[in-house]
Amino acid sequence: MAKDIAVLAYSGGLDSTISIDWIKENYGYEVITLTVDLGGGQFSDDLESRAKKAGALDCVILDVKNEFVKDFILPSLKAGVIYENNYLLATSIGRPLMAKKLVEVAYKYNARAVAHGCTGKGNDQVRFDTAIKTLSANEPLEIIAPAREASLTRDQEKEYAEKLGIKLPGVEERVYSIDRNLWGLAIEGEDLEDPWVEPPEDAYLITKNLEDTPNDPAYIEIGFKEGMPNKLNGETMDFLEIIEKLNLIAGDHGVGRVVHVENRLVGIKSREVYEAPGATVIHNAFQSLEKLVLNRDQSRMKNMISSNYSDLVYDGRWFSGLRENLDAYCKSSCRYMTGEVRIKLYKSKCDVVGAKSPYSLYSYDLATYSNDDKFKHDSAEGFIDIYSLPSRIQRKQQIHDELTD
Ligand code: ARG
Repeated sequence: MAKDIAVLAYSGGLDSTISIDWIKENYGYEVITLTVDLGGGQFSDDLESRAKKAGALDCVILDVKNEFVKDFILPSLKAGVIYENNYLLATSIGRPLMAKKLVEVAYKYNARAVAHGCTGKGNDQVRFDTAIKTLSANEPLEIIAPAREASLTRDQEKEYAEKLGIKLPGVEERVYSIDRNLWGLAIEGEDLEDPWVEPPEDAYLITKNLEDTPNDPAYIEIGFKEGMPNKLNGETMDFLEIIEKLNLIAGDHGVGRVVHVENRLVGIKSREVYEAPGATVIHNAFQSLEKLVLNRDQSRMKNMISSNYSDLVYDGRWFSGLRENLDAYCKSSCRYMTGEVRIKLYKSKCDVVGAKSPYSLYSYDLATYSNDDKFKHDSAEGFIDIYSLPSRIQRKQQIHDELTD
């Protein structure tokens, strides 16, 4: 028999801290908090004491950075995911891993329920709930979402915290709703909610304002092995470390800021800003290498896969058969994705200035207009003669007057 325990996803912020008491009051369950470290920032030192003071029975903190990189960031890089041409999906790939850990910890403690702090109008509730329901299909867990169920405003939350005698640093001045991990940040709320208002500078946390960026460019070189970044500036390095380093270097040059009005799964449009300096550089480098090693048919198909994969991830269907199928395609498409890419970072721009691969399909002898040219020019006439045959026949038989009409 499961115990009356709920495992709550815990960030240490206002919403999740008052959720501890709210669950105890409204469900009569004990609460174990679970903090999942996906990288990109530090949790406050007093996380555990804060949770316990708010009434938690126990506090679990898991460092899952390596799993995040290997099983979530890498597949989404290989798939080239980017939602509506702008958003590199850092939050969307983080949620399924958090959900997975909630389920694992709930089973470990024989808990009856899991809980998260999502509201009823965002995408994250869909990602959490869908992943939790899928992963616990054989042994279902109850899902509690205090913010969705109680729909407290921020002021009501503050009153609630005051009543409980919980003092959280930064609650008064904190204005934006921020989700942060190794792959990037999503920032919502306040002035950002008006699409006519330019996002204020204080909305950005890890990328420099253009005016403050260095006056000299930075050149960096990223090495890939079968699609996985494995070198930075000639030095062999873990993918995790490459991301961390690039977040700092590219952030310093103001790279990776995006202002986006996006279509949420729940039907509304939202306006938010994203910062993903490292991810932006790595995606650009990856795509440039693809241009060398994939042929035209392969790259057209890859675009279709990327678009499907992006919607699937955004819509919370990470744990699905389709994703596994698409991963198999991307793995195969990365077979020759080995090589190096040179990038110039300058004044918020990230330009690929060079790329090479032992498997490159680019042939200088065929492309050059110099004396080294080996292209068979005389074959072109015959090729075009047959290539244009269907349109010539159609022109003669059917199409006569489209120019005069
Ligand atoms: N709109 C993005 C998404 O659905 C980011 C949501 C981030 N959440 C937040 N609390 N800022 O993936």
